[in-house]
Amino acid sequence: MRVPLMAGNWKMHKGVGQAVALVQALKESLADVTDREILVCPPFTTLYPVAETLRGSNIELGGQNIYPKEEGAYTGEVSPTMLLDVGCRYVILGHSERRRYFKEADEFINRKVDLVLEHSLRPILCVGETLEQREAGQEVAVVAKQVRECLAGVTGEGMKEVVIAYEPLWAIGTGRTATPEQAQTMHQTIRDILKGLYGPETAQATRIIYGGSVKPGNVDDLMREPDIDGALVGGASLKAESFVRIVRFEE
Ligand code: 13P
Repeated sequence: MRVPLMAGNWKMHKGVGQAVALVQALKESLADVTDREILVCPPFTTLYPVAETLRGSNIELGGQNIYPKEEGAYTGEVSPTMLLDVGCRYVILGHSERRRYFKEADEFINRKVDLVLEHSLRPILCVGETLEQREAGQEVAVVAKQVRECLAGVTGEGMKEVVIAYEPLWAIGTGRTATPEQAQTMHQTIRDILKGLYGPETAQATRIIYGGSVKPGNVDDLMREPDIDGALVGGASLKAESFVRIVRFEE
């Protein structure tokens, strides 16, 4: 059984006061939830106060990125050990906004996945195609290449810690969600790729979550699909009311 992972990616939003107020509200409203994992990924500057606020709660903490080195002269960057130190359990890697604005390529993301696994942090590896690629019928080839290259060298044992997030770029921040059928088809394809790489057991155990305009109004239908194991939520994770409803999806 795959435990659903309901994750909020706050991106570049919220200062300390707003971040603490949001997680305080989430903590109170979600205290009874035990059958799904809840995760928030705030910006680096608010990780520490958010971790303090979440102490003893059922909500976990994640970062939005790392640089693939332990420490050193890398101005402006943050290492996996720093995320662990502040209480993170997860880290988002290879988000399409990083691929697009910071030119992150699969080989570089692969180095991050490797180092994160060495440090017992759990990577949430993001993959997804552009609208252009989908319209050209290339979505499976694009996503398959991202999965294979970003996971190069990762062992079956390492895969136990990996979550894959399918985030079609045309659905991010656009209000245009993939239909449950479109998402399910790609999730199943990703699971088939994992089966080829790691065998059926690992493929069945790996969580594949969906991201791209997930909202209270569409989460139930998405979560009903057999290969959708959770959500990576951007905009709708910034307000307690909508994120709480998303976490409390009904199948
Ligand atoms: P939105 O939910 O705002 O579309 O963002 C999705 C996303 O990029 C999550 O990582």
